[in-house]
Amino acid sequence: MTVIQFQGESVTLTEGESVLDGLLRQGHQIPHGCRAGVCQSCVVEAAEGDNVSSAQAGLSDNQVRLNQFLSCQCIPRESLSVNLVDINEQKTPAQVVDKSWLSDQVIRLRLKASLSYFPGQYVTLWKDEAIARSYSLASVDADGFLEFHIRHYPEGVFSSWVAEALNVGETLYLQGPMGKCFYSAEPSQPLLLAAIGTGLAPVYGILRDALSQFHNGPITLVIGAKDTTGLYLIDELMEIARRHDNVSIHIVAQQEAGVEAPVQVGDIYQYIKGLLPDMNGYRVFLCGAESFVTKMRKQCFLAGAGMSAISADVFLHFADD
Ligand SMILES: Cc1cc2nc3c(=O)[nH]c(=O)nc-3n(C[C@H](O)[C@H](O)[C@H](O)COP(=O)(O)OP(=O)(O)OC[C@H]3O[C@@H](n4cnc5c(N)ncnc54)[C@H](O)[C@@H]3O)c2cc1C
Ligand code: FES
Repeated sequence: MTVIQFQGESVTLTEGESVLDGLLRQGHQIPHGCRAGVCQSCVVEAAEGDNVSSAQAGLSDNQVRLNQFLSCQCIPRESLSVNLVDINEQKTPAQVVDKSWLSDQVIRLRLKASLSYFPGQYVTLWKDEAIARSYSLASVDADGFLEFHIRHYPEGVFSSWVAEALNVGETLYLQGPMGKCFYSAEPSQPLLLAAIGTGLAPVYGILRDALSQFHNGPITLVIGAKDTTGLYLIDELMEIARRHDNVSIHIVAQQEAGVEAPVQVGDIYQYIKGLLPDMNGYRVFLCGAESFVTKMRKQCFLAGAGMSAISADVFLHFADD
């Protein structure tokens, strides 16, 4: 068992327990979100000389130099001395400039903030000092605002707060940008952009970014949903396809209820298999739930896409707040 020192107190971690879980179990207030090494809300600092390198993926060079690490990812074998960091230094204020519903389930949130990013990356949005969640950027620079598509979970701490309490004019804080799922390709390379649910957010940003950079190779965009109630932005996507000969949009719903053209009924994996049997030379962007991304990544690889040509934005979630 490993003992960590935190604010003058010794905390004994149980077998396999992370620094975050150990500190929370002892009643310490440590901000956290995904618990998967993605949102960076749980950053803390180790004393000089303590080895935390296995829990520093995605942190900046400066954070690594300061021996900061992701407490949710750190299961130490040796004792550590841990301090809180002033996470506020890493946050950017953002003002809500628009909030509207794109469908019964999806909120479009637009924020004004000074942020340099690539469309498709994600930021961590903070509800307060303790609760943070990551959301993908659907906007492009020319929009002049940051756009997010947030699925409303009635039991969801963050999405319910956005749906019910957050108002235009209010300020919240964001951390980032983070992630490597953004447009980078040869201009003539064929692209597959595939998403389910609000995975459309990063895909929408990546599509518009590719077009603004004059991508002229074929772009195949496939959106999947359980049924038509999960779909949104369809008119906007169809309009993009009308204006760009190289863009084709495919919408696949699992269930038949209420389905009308242009929505196809079927299984998104089989649909993409039939549409793109040979993906040799493709650049691929996969966004949405982990199960979808994992299965699609394997399928695209088996169809000939190189592993390094596949980028993904995985919407991991872990709730305990
Ligand atoms: C890199 C990244 C990018 C993301 N981008 C987006 C985005 O663009 N748009 C978006 O809507 N979300 C996105 N997410 C997910 C988001 O961070 C939250 O997990 C989600 O909004 C739920 O937060 P919540 O506080 O409302 O729910 P929580 O309080 O965390 O969860 C409460 C309950 O809601 C349900 N629930 C929550 N999330 C899910 C889920 N994903 N699947 C099934 N049930 C769930 C569960 O029943 C859960 O117990 C992203 C996540 C990551 C890691
Ligand atoms: S990175 Fe640790 S809680 Fe998200």
